Amino acid sequence: MKIMKKKFIIANWKMNPSTSDEAQRLVKSVLTAQIPKDVELIFTPPFVYLEAIKKLLPKEIKLAAQNISWAERGAYTGEISGLMLKNLGCSYVIIGHSERRYKIGETDEMINLKLKAAFKAGLTPVLAVGEKEQNDDIVKILTRQLKNAFKDLEAPEVGRLMIAYEPVWAIGTGISDTPDHALSAALLIRKIVGNLYTADWASDLPVLYGGSVTEENAADFIGQTGINGALVGGASLEVLEFTKIIKATQTND
Ligand code: PGA
Repeated sequence: MKIMKKKFIIANWKMNPSTSDEAQRLVKSVLTAQIPKDVELIFTPPFVYLEAIKKLLPKEIKLAAQNISWAERGAYTGEISGLMLKNLGCSYVIIGHSERRYKIGETDEMINLKLKAAFKAGLTPVLAVGEKEQNDDIVKILTRQLKNAFKDLEAPEVGRLMIAYEPVWAIGTGISDTPDHALSAALLIRKIVGNLYTADWASDLPVLYGGSVTEENAADFIGQTGINGALVGGASLEVLEFTKIIKATQTND
């Protein structure tokens, strides 16, 4: 196993902000801060701002989409294909976010098709998994989500996939997971995908934590060797807080 030094910080803006000007201002303000070399910073704006945001990013800062169609092209009103995203300059796409699973009704089967579509388009998926309630059977749920997501898929090349552990009860609630539990969930994820593919492959897979990450708790999650970064929602819309989260990658090493 290689010890992965690089940390990933993903800003998931969800359905915010309401103007392109605000979106551009937000990125420009974040980029005035110094971004450490060993951090892969990834902005995930709504589709409609992707093109404008891409123009503001130096090449080491990456762009991601919040969703992707499972279809390649054609009669899918309202959908956005992987190729469109790739051609706009996206490197990553979030797939299986709990807000899409539970508010929009995405199923494991759709998520599996979306993963395949992302790989086909040359995008790196950030697959989000997590249990709904704090007392849910996490082994059972993560096993089901991961097995179904990777159905009929060969092991993606290392660096061509990330997994985000996002307990649903911690998303947008202000109640984050404990760093110890998040770490054990990250290990469990590696164990499950290691059984699907190989343990070596799984140990090199970046696994992130997401769910009420703030400037106060960021270092406790990101600082762990087994957690390779954070998927940040609400706090990524606050410039000062978000830049402190980026800085938190440099502590607790
Ligand atoms: P949050 O969202 O940081 O606002 O809890 C995390 C996410 O949805 O990825």
